[in-house]
Amino acid sequence: MKKLIAGNWKMNGSLEANAPLVQALLMDASGWACDVAVCVPPVYLAQVQALVHGNRLNLGAQDVSTHEAGAFTGEVSAAMLKDFAVRYCIVGHSERRHYHQESDATVALKAQRALAAGITPIVCVGETLAQREAGLTEEVVKRQLAAVVHTNGHCISEIVLAYEPVWAVGTGNTASPQQAQQVHHVLRTQLQAASQHADRVRILYGGSMNASNAAGLLAQPDIDGGLIGGAALQAAAFLSIVAAAG
Ligand code: PGA
Repeated sequence: MKKLIAGNWKMNGSLEANAPLVQALLMDASGWACDVAVCVPPVYLAQVQALVHGNRLNLGAQDVSTHEAGAFTGEVSAAMLKDFAVRYCIVGHSERRHYHQESDATVALKAQRALAAGITPIVCVGETLAQREAGLTEEVVKRQLAAVVHTNGHCISEIVLAYEPVWAVGTGNTASPQQAQQVHHVLRTQLQAASQHADRVRILYGGSMNASNAAGLLAQPDIDGGLIGGAALQAAAFLSIVAAAG
């Protein structure tokens, strides 16, 4: 299966900084063996859409509203993202779950909104350090995925899943390839029970993935790409992860 490397810019970037970053990525695009995307803040969708137009770099968003349209101040709908040719949308990132109290049900609904608009949701799951230490990792990620399976039923093979242990996100503490593969295998098995097409779901790893640890992680049988935060803000670092996925 073709791997996917998606950058998650989070709340970073500026009109001035985005252009050279995207242009540096595009310079390398002819050599890519995997799919590549950048998930940008919504105010920069138009800028990045224009920059990547007709190129191999896919445009992504970082969140979507659970609502279709209407009086929801500050929200961005799936249809609006579609207007800018958004291909992927992160849903349920641990920062959204934590800082915005997004529940499993909310995340499942966001995935549904994205799918209905023809956007591939990148659904994030992952345990906190306390949950890992309490031996709850499998239970937590299975519960998070179950909500998305429950709401999205037969469409579940259309999602991208991302395992992002919260203790690894932005901390420099990467899961070892074995730790990550163990959880990815659990998630794959759960998807297989839900859909006969589960084997085509890409399961990304995210959490301090960088140029030096990417190859080991991406060599695991159930790791089908990466969701990259910090290292996605520098073209050279991001491109070496893309190269490691080839
Ligand atoms: P990180 O972030 O690579 O900076 O750990 C990953 C993410 O939050 O998607």
